[in-house]
Amino acid sequence: MNLKTIKNNIEKILKKECYKNNITRRDIEFCLLESIQKNKSFLLTHDDYALTHNEQNKFDYFIYKLSQGMPLAYVLGNQYFYKYKYFVDKNVLIPRSETEILIPKILDYGDRIYKKKKKLTLIDLGAGSGCIGLSIAKERKSWKIILSEKYTEAAKILRKNYNNFNLNNCYIVLSNWLKAFDDNIADIIVSNPPYISHKSAFVENSVKNFEPMNALYSKDMGFHDIQKIILESKKVLNKDGLLFLENGYNQSNRVINTLRENSYEDINTILDYNNICRFTLSRNTKNG
Ligand SMILES: C[S@@+](CC[C@H](N)C(=O)[O-])C[C@H]1O[C@@H](n2cnc3c(N)ncnc32)[C@H](O)[C@@H]1O
Repeated sequence: MNLKTIKNNIEKILKKECYKNNITRRDIEFCLLESIQKNKSFLLTHDDYALTHNEQNKFDYFIYKLSQGMPLAYVLGNQYFYKYKYFVDKNVLIPRSETEILIPKILDYGDRIYKKKKKLTLIDLGAGSGCIGLSIAKERKSWKIILSEKYTEAAKILRKNYNNFNLNNCYIVLSNWLKAFDDNIADIIVSNPPYISHKSAFVENSVKNFEPMNALYSKDMGFHDIQKIILESKKVLNKDGLLFLENGYNQSNRVINTLRENSYEDINTILDYNNICRFTLSRNTKNG
C-alpha cells in the first residue's frame, strides 16, 4: 500500500495523537492542495493520487508548521479576502473575514460621491497586505486608491500583492499615519488600525505568538492610534469626506465621542458578524 496518497496522508495525520486537537481536516486539505497546486474538486475526485517526493516534503513541512501553532495563512503564505487571494507573511496581519463587511459599504458610499464628482480619492491607512484598498481598487478602476503603510517590511508584502493585481489606479506611500499627506485630498479614508490594549487578556496564542505587534497593539487601552487617525483625517479629508474606522469590541462609544468632539457628523456604526459595533462611519464637516 502506498502511504503517500492524499487519502492516507489525511488519515495518518487525523489519527496522530499529538496533532489531534490543533490540526483540523480542513487545515490538512488546504495544505495538501497547496502542496500539489490543485483545487478542491481534485481532492474529492482523486484521493488515491500519490504525492511526488517534492510535494510530500512540502506537505510535511506545512504540517510541521501547523503543529507549532502557526496560523494556516502564514503556513501557506496566502489568505482569501473578499473575492481575492492575498500573499501574507509574518510582517502583515492576516486579513479577517469581518473586515470584508466594510468593502460593499465603501463601494456603495463611494459610488454616490463618484457620481457627483466624477472622480474619487481613497486612502487605505495602515494597508498591511493591502486587502482593503486593493479589493476596492479592483472593483472600481476609475477611483484613485492610495495604500499607505508605516513599516517597510509590511510594505514589501503590500507591493507584492499590488504587483500581482495588475492595476494602474493605486499608489503606495510610506507614512506614519497621515503625516506624508497634504490637506484636503481625500474623499474617503478607511483604516483598520491597531486597537488592542497591551493589557488585553483576550488575545489568542496564535495571534499573540505569530502576528506583528505593530498591527495589533496600541497605547491608551488600544485607543491611541484611532484617536490620531480621527484628528489627522480632519485635515486630509475634503469637506464632507468620509472616514471608515474599524475598532475594538468595547471602543465604539469612545470612537463616537471622539468623532463628535471633532465635529464629524452623520456618525453610524456598522455591526460585525457577532453583532458587535465594529466599524464607525462618519462625515467630516471641516468645522471646529
Ligand atoms: C490591524 S493592521 C490592518 C492591516 C490591513 N489593513 C487589514 O485590514 O488587514 C494595522 C496596520 O497598520 C499599520 N500601522 C501601524 N502603525 C502605523 C502608523 N503609525 N502609520 C501607518 N501604519 C501603521 C500596521 O503595520 C498594520 O499593517
